[in-house]
Order: sequence, then structure tokens, then C-alpha cells
Amino acid sequence: MENNSLTRPLGGLGQVAASTAASPQWSGRMAFVLAATGSAVGLGNIWKFPYITGEHGGAAFVLVYLACILVIGIPLLMAEVMIGRRGRHNPPHAMAALAGEAGASPRWRWLGWVGVLTGFLLLSFYVVVAGWAVAYIFDTGAGTFNTATGEQVGAHFGALLASPLTLIFWGSLVLALTLGIVALGVRQGLERAVNLMMPGLFLLLLVLVGYAMTTGHFMQGLAFLFNPDFGKLSGNSVLVALGHAFFTLSLAGGGMMTYGAYLPGKVSIAKTALTIGLLDTLVALLAGMVIFPLVFANGLEPGAGPGLLFVTLPIAFGQMPLGALFGALFFVMLSVAALTSAISLIEPAVAWLTGRYRISRARACLGSGVLMWLLSLGTVFSFNLWEQHTLFGKTFFGGLDYLTSSWIMPLSGLFIALFAGWVMSRTATEQELGRGPGYRLWRFTIRYLSPVFIVLMFLNAIGVFG
Ligand code: PHE
Repeated sequence: MENNSLTRPLGGLGQVAASTAASPQWSGRMAFVLAATGSAVGLGNIWKFPYITGEHGGAAFVLVYLACILVIGIPLLMAEVMIGRRGRHNPPHAMAALAGEAGASPRWRWLGWVGVLTGFLLLSFYVVVAGWAVAYIFDTGAGTFNTATGEQVGAHFGALLASPLTLIFWGSLVLALTLGIVALGVRQGLERAVNLMMPGLFLLLLVLVGYAMTTGHFMQGLAFLFNPDFGKLSGNSVLVALGHAFFTLSLAGGGMMTYGAYLPGKVSIAKTALTIGLLDTLVALLAGMVIFPLVFANGLEPGAGPGLLFVTLPIAFGQMPLGALFGALFFVMLSVAALTSAISLIEPAVAWLTGRYRISRARACLGSGVLMWLLSLGTVFSFNLWEQHTLFGKTFFGGLDYLTSSWIMPLSGLFIALFAGWVMSRTATEQELGRGPGYRLWRFTIRYLSPVFIVLMFLNAIGVFG
């Protein structure tokens, strides 16, 4: 399984990617699975999934989301990793190379571009929210929430959002850490950290599920998550569920394609994609099973919006024994999970800049970092100074999130599916994915099911079906 032939002694993305000229590679399947899972599991699972599920009425939304993961997400994850690996380059170059191989227009490189740009836009709000998680390490650790009521916890979060300078401070810290990791290529240390943190996060979530069972509202929480009422589902909700499937699996943001480019040839893409999809889904569902019982037990509103995680979990930490310790640990792990996703959001841009302009990784990080920092101010101000400035009822953050997740990502996903299913030759995709019934199922899905479903969901959202 392991293919170390091209790997530098230390292995890992940072070190190997610094030597862009040769084809850099992960040290093996495990390194890739860890990095890709690190990319997939992040704020999307623990912060975003519960709050959008709350906003869109619960179980029916969850079912659509799960269907999207299965029919669209996993096949596309395979497609992206495959394109990256066969193209062996950053997304625009990989797309251009494969289009060339297939005798198609080099303009397909634009699709790679959109991925790089999307990753960039996503990171601008991602660092701000990750900043909230970092701030909460200290808040929970200091015992701020001990025996606090729901109201007090809500007020604490409100105060955080109201202060642009505090948000800028924490967001900048996360951005600096992200860029530092990507620039220095301290991937090895990070991989070790992930090795510990991911299982740790999982365990803590299980502990919290245990706590949620004691609230007396566990069944109500489960029913909200798993007992669907399709009457609550609007066309827009369906689109948000689709967009979230993309967001949570790190699709259409250039990340998986870029990581795929560093993947050794012998590793089974299908197996890895299934593993990643499964782990990612499990973490999201566990987070929901923790948060909704807490919401109902404390008389909170499931549709409270982006702050949901930060106004529910601290209540639990304030009440359980050793809560300050568990709470601080939880937010440490959430922050690490966010960091491992953040680096995959900027890596495509850095890979592209170093490849295109032959500049060092450090320079590429600095340049993109400054732009990113400026853009992140838009998200910071969405929660205070610009709160009232809305367009179609959405703040800068709300609009950016909606535009990227619900429109740009599914739309570029559609084209990636068409590219992998129709433009790339059967021989090429078969060489990457292997023959057999699994391959035939993938090919059928990516050619027909995924594109048709995406188009139907778009049509549904714009009201074609009434
Ligand atoms: N999947 C990450 C999360 O769920 C976010 C992400 C999106 C990362 C797109 C990379 C690319 O938090």
C-alpha cells in the first residue's frame, strides 16, 4: 500500500509540496486519509450542521442532506481526488492537463480556478468563526459558564459578537496560525496532532451525548433530528442541504483536488472516499445529538442561527462535573479540527501561486493572507457594525455563505461531475478508480444521477416546480 519512493524523509504535505518541481506525494494512504478527514471534519460538522438543521426544521432537512452525501457527495469526492491525482497539479493546471488528455477545451481550467477562488472566499469567514472557538477555550477554561443560565450564556456570546476588535483579534490569530502552518510546512507535527485530536474530539462528543441523555429531552432532540416532517421543507432548504453536503466534504473548494494531487497511485480512491464520508457524517450527527437535546432542555430556539453551538454547549459545560476542563478540551479540539480544514482552504491558492509565479510558499501565504484578512473584516462587521446592512435580508456573512455554499459549490460540482463522467475517457477514469461493479456504479452515478439531481434541486429552488 505504502509508496514512499517520491517522499521526502519527513513526508507530508508541507515538506513535499515545497519541492513543487518533483511530483510531491503523501507518505501513504493513512497520511492522505488523515489530511482529507482533517479537511472534511471541521466547523461544518459541529458548528454549521446543527444550526442550519435548526433553521430548516430538522429531520426532513437531515434526510435530504444524507441523500446528497450519498448520491452526490461521495461520487464527487472520488471524482475530485481522481482529477487531482491524475492531473498531479493544482486545480487549474490539473483540469487543463486532463482536458488536454481528453482532447477537450483548455477552458476547463476555469473550473479549477473557481475552486481556488471558492476556497479563498470560504476561508474569509471560516477564520472568524474558528476565532470564536479559540476564544471559548479560554472562556470555558476560566469557568465563566459555571452554573450559568441559558440567558447568561447567550449574553456572553452576544457580547463577543458585539466587539469587532475582539473578533478581529481571534480571527487574525487563526489566520496567522493557518498561514504559518501552510508556509512552514509543519505538516508532520500537525498530522501527529490530528492523530490525537480527531479521536479525542470523537470521544468527547460521545461523552457529551451521554450528558445530553441526562437532560430529559434526549428523545425530543432525536425526534427533531430523525423524525421527518416534509411539510417544513422549502425548495431553498433543499438547496441549502445540497450546499452543505459540498461544504462538509470539502468539495468544489479546490482542497480535495489539491490533496489528491499528492496521493500515491496505488491507493484505492473509492475506499478512502467512503471512509471520509462516513466519518464526516458520523461527527455531524453526533454533534446534532448533543446540541438539540440541550436546546429543548433549556427552552432555546433551534433556529437561533450561527451562534447555536456557542449558546448551547457552554450550558452543558457549566453544569457537568469538571465542565470547565471538558469544555476547554472540547474547544481546543474544535479549534484544531477547524485549523486542519482551514489549511485545506488556502492550500489550493498557495499551490497555484507557487506553481504559476514561482514564488516561495511563504510569499504566497503572505500575499493571500493580506487579501484574506481584509475580506474577513466583512464577516466580522456582519455581527456588529454592519448588522443592519443587508441585501435580500442577508448580511455580508450570510450572503457570502449562501452564495458560496448554496450556489457556487453545487454549480461547480455539476461541472466537475460532467467533466469526470463525460469529458474524461472511460479508460482514464478506470485506470484511476479500478474496474468492477463499484466502478460501474460510480460511473453511472456521476454521469446521470449526480448531475440530474443537482439540476433538479436548482430548478426546485428557483420555484419551477411551484
Ligand atoms: N469541510 C470543512 C468543514 O466542514 C470546510 C471546507 C470546505 C474545507 C471546503 C475545505 C474546502 O468544516
